[in-house]
Amino acid sequence: MAKIVGVVTPGGDAPGMNAAIRGVTRIAHAKGFQVLGFERGWDGLLTNSAKKLTPRSVGGIIQSGGTILHTLRCQSFEEEGAAEKGAETLSINNVDALIVIGGDGSFKGALDLSVESDALMIGIPATIDNDVFGTDETIGFDTAVNTAVSAIDKIRDTAISHERIFIVEVMGRKRGFLALEVGICVGAEVILIPERPMSLADIAKVMDENAKKGKRAGIIVAAEGCGNTHKLAQEMQQQTESEVRLSILGYAQRGGSPTARSRLLASLFAQKAVDLICQGQGNMAIGLENGAVVGYDLEKAARDSKPIDLRLFDVADMLAT
Ligand code: F6P
Repeated sequence: MAKIVGVVTPGGDAPGMNAAIRGVTRIAHAKGFQVLGFERGWDGLLTNSAKKLTPRSVGGIIQSGGTILHTLRCQSFEEEGAAEKGAETLSINNVDALIVIGGDGSFKGALDLSVESDALMIGIPATIDNDVFGTDETIGFDTAVNTAVSAIDKIRDTAISHERIFIVEVMGRKRGFLALEVGICVGAEVILIPERPMSLADIAKVMDENAKKGKRAGIIVAAEGCGNTHKLAQEMQQQTESEVRLSILGYAQRGGSPTARSRLLASLFAQKAVDLICQGQGNMAIGLENGAVVGYDLEKAARDSKPIDLRLFDVADMLAT
């Protein structure tokens, strides 16, 4: 009987997930596997909602954002008996390996499931936050960066016309990877991330010094994890003579056609995932390490905190003068 690879996309979606589903399906089929897609994240394992994926059924999706398997923010397998139920679903479907496409929360779910199931667990990192330990980049991050950069370039036009200061909030549940890279790419005057707090006085000082140099307009890129940007905008307005406006980019960063880079990562990560399964290796995550696609401990990917390179602020600060 052909061996079966399961695939699931729990948690927040990310552009490029469909490219990863396509890669897993076509490469696994080429290696003689059948592929079963579980629907709506972990809920699909709790309710045995699955559909066969074939090379034809994943045609024409590489360019689409989102996930054809849908997803739910269900609390993975924390509830009593949930992991056993998920393991039972894998067993009755004869799933030999499960590829989990998502972020660290999804990988925690895969670890919980691995306690009850013999199926090999493989994590493919896909989240716009880029906050998964062990990989330089996650699927979807490049797309979200480009979406935010494109939007903020437009905001800068009107900021300059009106000589206004714009606070632009970007996503990143708790980490500042997205805000830091976007901030550099749009030439933000100030970049606010949870890992490097700035006082209101410091922010106002930067903007006032710019105003004295004739830069009356400005962009402040703020990671959502930095707190209430509505309140910050109000406080900033009291600190400066410039008009201050707030723009929250929100869920536009989670969608859109994946960039070539996100598609490439998805395809290469899918290949590595199937390779590890062929080698019988489980509880592994796939990552990019200095340009090389690697496999590493799923436990570390799920639980360790990815360091952020604050030296990037040296570049950002010099370029924003
Ligand atoms: O983890 C990705 C992410 O987009 C975060 O940046 C954001 O804070 C969160 O998901 C939003 O979660 P939800 O889609 O459940 O509202």
